[in-house]
Amino acid sequence: RQNERESLLIVLNFAKTFFQETLQTSDEGKSIGLCYFRERGFTNPTIEAFELGYTLDQWDSLLKEGQRRGYSQELLEKAGLILSKEGGKVFDRFRGRVMFPIHNVSGRVIAFGARILKTDKNQPKYLNSPETAVYHKSQVLYGIFQAKQAIRQEDVCYLTEGYTDVISLHQAGIKNVVASSGTSLTTEQIKLIARFTPNVTILYDGDAAGIKAALRGLDMVLEEGLNLKLLLLPDGEDPDSYVHKVGADAFKTHIKEHSQDFIDFKASRWLTEAGDNPLKRAEGISDVCASITKIPDPLKRQTLSQRVAQVFHVSEQSVISEINRLVRKQQ
Ligand code: GTP
Ligand code: MN
Ligand code: MN
Ligand code: MN
Ligand code: MN
Repeated sequence: RQNERESLLIVLNFAKTFFQETLQTSDEGKSIGLCYFRERGFTNPTIEAFELGYTLDQWDSLLKEGQRRGYSQELLEKAGLILSKEGGKVFDRFRGRVMFPIHNVSGRVIAFGARILKTDKNQPKYLNSPETAVYHKSQVLYGIFQAKQAIRQEDVCYLTEGYTDVISLHQAGIKNVVASSGTSLTTEQIKLIARFTPNVTILYDGDAAGIKAALRGLDMVLEEGLNLKLLLLPDGEDPDSYVHKVGADAFKTHIKEHSQDFIDFKASRWLTEAGDNPLKRAEGISDVCASITKIPDPLKRQTLSQRVAQVFHVSEQSVISEINRLVRKQQ
């Protein structure tokens, strides 16, 4: 099976190079793909660093070139690059899209994300490779290869939602960034971050979906014993749009001044919602305590109980008994 994995990695690398060449040298690639990246503000070094490419709006440009180079139809299909329909019709999976190669930790291409150029309700904005023998979506973080050194150096990993968030922050000099790429965060992804740093800051989109995803990811990060901060961007912004709007320095300042630990993040939302309603406040305390029970280290749990008591203006004893009640309930 080692052989099959290596063959897949080789054909995926061929596809990556082909998509890069299509972007840089074909008329369609230059006038549509490169033009699209320019409009998004991506520079040549950025396009190079993330090995971005383009696929022609044709049925079989990759299939033909692949076969000309001696790659079998079967291998191209196993790599998720082509589709074959009943009746023998075979065609490229990705057509007329800008291509974002997805790399593993060691920099080999294992899959692609592909974006349409104009938003169209009848088509998904991003199309991704299917699961293959080398691509397990739940184990991958987009950008980890380009980010790992900076994550170690800065001793924190910024976790975003999308490809373009990673790329635009990287271009702005903020290189310790990865993306969960639309899937909800998994334990395997958190363990991957933990190889490089114990500190995670979630930078999800400032919309309802982003907040929901952040709240879902929060407990999982705590469960893995990592230290967590969260930053909400202004409504309607994502890291990509916001860094283009305000620039790298202001973005860094924004992270410094506005990232919250999970207690403040949750508590501030509950306190706003609850006002003077004591039942809502109790619900909020219980919700924050539920997250604290996820933390494996008892000493950390203890210190955080004090914080919860301060934030909600209740006694530390009542917080500790709520935590104990929740722990008993879980057992
Ligand atoms: P841009 O519009 O190019 O700036 O992308 P974005 O990253 O801001 O997209 P969005 O916030 O809508 O979604 C975040 C991430 O979810 C994307 O980067 C993709 O990885 C993923 N995603 C978004 N739309 C789709 C889709 O239609 N299909 C799939 N499979 N993934 C998607
Ligand atoms: Mn496998
Ligand atoms: Mn979004
Ligand atoms: Mn977004
Ligand atoms: Mn975006």
